[in-house]
Amino acid sequence: MCGIVGYIGPGDAKSIVISGLKRLEYRGYDSSGIAFIDDDSIIIKKKSGKVSSLDSVVKKDKIEGLCIGHTRWATHGLPNDLNAHPHFSMNKNLAVIHNGVIENYLTIKEGLVNRGYKFVSETDTEVLINLIQDVQTNEKTGLFKSIQLALSQVVGAYSIAVIDKKNSEKIVVAKKGSPLIIGVGNNENFIASDPAPFLNYTKNVIYLKDNEIAEVSASEIKIKNIKNKSKRPYIEKLNIELEAIEKGNYETFMLKEIYEQPKAIVETLRGRISSDFKRTRLRGLNENIDFLKNVKKIIIIACGTSWHAGLVGEYLIEGIARIPVEVEYASEFLYRDPLISTNDMVIAISQSGETADTLSALKLAKQRGAFVYGICNVVGSSIARSAGVGTYTHAGPEIGVASTKSFTSQVTVLILIALYLNTLKERNSSIKITELTKELVQISDKMSRTIDDINDKIIKISELYKDAKNFLYLGRGISFPVALEGALKLKEISYIHAEGYPAAEMKHGPIALIDKNMPTVIIATNKSNYEKVLINAEEIKARSGKLIAIVNKNDKQMSKIADHVIEIAETNNFLSPLITTLPLQLLSYHIAKMRGCNVDQPRNLAKSVTVE
Ligand code: M6R
Repeated sequence: MCGIVGYIGPGDAKSIVISGLKRLEYRGYDSSGIAFIDDDSIIIKKKSGKVSSLDSVVKKDKIEGLCIGHTRWATHGLPNDLNAHPHFSMNKNLAVIHNGVIENYLTIKEGLVNRGYKFVSETDTEVLINLIQDVQTNEKTGLFKSIQLALSQVVGAYSIAVIDKKNSEKIVVAKKGSPLIIGVGNNENFIASDPAPFLNYTKNVIYLKDNEIAEVSASEIKIKNIKNKSKRPYIEKLNIELEAIEKGNYETFMLKEIYEQPKAIVETLRGRISSDFKRTRLRGLNENIDFLKNVKKIIIIACGTSWHAGLVGEYLIEGIARIPVEVEYASEFLYRDPLISTNDMVIAISQSGETADTLSALKLAKQRGAFVYGICNVVGSSIARSAGVGTYTHAGPEIGVASTKSFTSQVTVLILIALYLNTLKERNSSIKITELTKELVQISDKMSRTIDDINDKIIKISELYKDAKNFLYLGRGISFPVALEGALKLKEISYIHAEGYPAAEMKHGPIALIDKNMPTVIIATNKSNYEKVLINAEEIKARSGKLIAIVNKNDKQMSKIADHVIEIAETNNFLSPLITTLPLQLLSYHIAKMRGCNVDQPRNLAKSVTVE
């Protein structure tokens, strides 16, 4: 979604901000712009489309001292030049960039219109900057105080950066519910919505907290909260290398991230399994051991791919630890007055840690007294902070919009949680915990081998089906959520319609779609339901459907039925999603590439969805 970047200092402000905006492109956006001060005036340049279009508009500008830039993902008003950020205040003394949504903007706008304000865009952001101007004019306050007063009237989520033409020595930033990070340099400072834009300049960062406002100059950072209480800036060191956010030798981030999965899993497991494979160590769980011994129910809340990981978690926790689990779309959970008790654990899963629906659902669960646990990839993200307790996946930055390594690392954390909860009370003594844990430790090798073994075959299969109009994905048991994830992956990056279904459910409806033009991907790797899946496969072939089957190495029977088989390394049923998902990611990847789609930045999508 929207991205913020800013610089203040003696360096080349223009190129720092423009290259920063390019590093934010992965978040998904439709327009971009910058603002700077020249000869006591604020200059704004903005353009719909890619940052490269903005590049050409600012080619001749020399920007010194200070510059703020923005990538916009439209919420209020069309994605055009007018609605792009930055936005001027009506008197042109101020300019703002803004992530998030001002929920009460219409009410505020009405008041401003009555006081003679005119608006040139349809955005909530222009309302906010005019509110700040209004406060400044009426209260005769400086920029910082005016922002404080204006924000106390605002309902919604925001991170903002404001500049004032009368003071080219500072940028004022503020945050509530949407991330804002200050990169602390040597006589220069940076601001951004995530650290990617300034990672090659500094790794020292301050995560602004909700309701905090900071005045950032080249040499100083002053922070106060909305009630004017001073806060001591707390500087943390980022643990991310620049290469983690670059493509390296890969054609796309998505392909890099697919290939990175075995390594990501090793990072997720690091230090979390005892050397005798008997215990899992998760600090967040250890610290709450008494509660967990008596936990009655686990509710998992998430969106998109993270929700699919949650569904896998349901099979894992119920199967391994025998604790009832419910999995809910965060957005639905939020608005149905859910029944939550103080004996329940609510797990919020989110790669970005910024997904607005998940964050709000988590806050609701907390209010109602549940024990709330976060599984996030982005360290210091809003969900991680708001949960207070949880587990980081440590998959490394995921830049491709389509989640890949975040899915497998989330599933890995859920396996660890299930194992932990089992050993806590031996809730299912039929599970051979040590064997399962040993297999988990070795799974990354199997994942690597599988990716290497199947890629060429999947390229050939993709050639055959790249023009299909629809795809069906089927799986049973723990492979059902993997089928859902496979279908989501295909539709989001190739724009082919795809549906995931439990294999047996096919005959209750989707079977009507099957004909010679309809490819079905079926996952047939789990021994406990293999025979049943074979029957489903026969049902498809009996209707001339095309069948691509994901099977274990040396599979005998499915090979006789399916048009194509993709052989993967065999593993324990509970761990199988870590491998079965790999061919589905590669299939969607190659099909999308062959169709000429931008796999890293698919149309209309954003990497972190910070609006409800
Ligand atoms: O950052 P989150 O995990 O909370 O994001 C949730 C979804 O927006 C995300 O998984 C989305 O569905 C991906 N584009 C899927 O590839």
